Amino acid sequence: ITSAPPTTIAEKYFRLYPEEKDPIWGNPCLDQRHMKIWSHNKSCEQLPRFLVIGPQKTGTTALYTFLAMHPNISSNVPSIETFEEIQFFNGHNYYKGLDWYMDFFPLLKDSTTQYLFEKSATYFDGELVPKRVQALLPHAKLVTILISPAKRAYSWYQHTKVHRDPVALNYSFYDIISANDSAPKNLRDLRNRCLNPGKYAQHLERWLTYFPMQQLQIIDGDQLRSDPIGVMTGLQKFLNITPIYDYSQHLRYDPRKGFFCQVLKNDNTKCLGRNKGRGYKPMDEKSYKLLKRFYQSHNTALVKLFKRLGYRMIPQWLKDDLSDSM
Ligand code: A3P
Repeated sequence: ITSAPPTTIAEKYFRLYPEEKDPIWGNPCLDQRHMKIWSHNKSCEQLPRFLVIGPQKTGTTALYTFLAMHPNISSNVPSIETFEEIQFFNGHNYYKGLDWYMDFFPLLKDSTTQYLFEKSATYFDGELVPKRVQALLPHAKLVTILISPAKRAYSWYQHTKVHRDPVALNYSFYDIISANDSAPKNLRDLRNRCLNPGKYAQHLERWLTYFPMQQLQIIDGDQLRSDPIGVMTGLQKFLNITPIYDYSQHLRYDPRKGFFCQVLKNDNTKCLGRNKGRGYKPMDEKSYKLLKRFYQSHNTALVKLFKRLGYRMIPQWLKDDLSDSM
């Protein structure tokens, strides 16, 4: 075998160890063997120290924008395919390898005070993501934002319609969330994509099998919306970032947008684009009722998880979603 060409060796190897066909990128800096063969131009500092993992439609772009305003925090450079998100740990990008990922991050002048991060909102519910993140970034802190899973599903539906998804355009929100297993496949697929990320406890438990709870911060998305200054102060403490950046000087509520926006040097405000904080009619009661029922066991598990994690406050949206009244 030692004289066989590399492809033959590889074929034989994967016949013996089929489970290793799917790569897992480890951190070269945590492994002497890798360090020895790694190019000297590479630096482990060019990897994120924390990740905003989503889920989608909970305010992740607002958080990303606010974090990037911080003088000591830098995000990845934009991707041509996925814009602000790299989406490395889920989907096909993972197979592009470590160099591909690291090229998104700038080289820092001072890696002790500067923090790199990325946010990809689909990481939250990706089956393989926690395991992959743990292999590469075992010390990374993880930030997730949660809002009512029912409202999240509705916001996702609106977003999907604006992106002209043919199934979303053809069916009402209620049709999608009430589709049963005899419904056409494309409708069932859309229902799953709409509803599955909202099974919060299930996804968080998966993250917690790979990461200690001290590395995870859960942000209440309603609070991020109403009090981003308080949320950003708390988050900086969790990330151990000093000095604390005073967001009260840099964020202001914009009544026209109905959200907090960035204060510019000329004192005007710069808000997120039209596709964030969209105006649409509120969810109908029938859909909300159905979703409350659908998410009941997941929300109950989430309350238990919050208690286990030592959170003293249960978010109001979670109490509302679990209450009997509309
Ligand atoms: P809607 O557009 O449904 O209102 P994401 O960036 O994860 O896709 O989340 C989008 C949601 O962020 C928006 O959903 C909006 O409610 C929420 N959001 C929170 N803070 C915001 C802000 N300051 N500006 C705009 N949208 C914000």
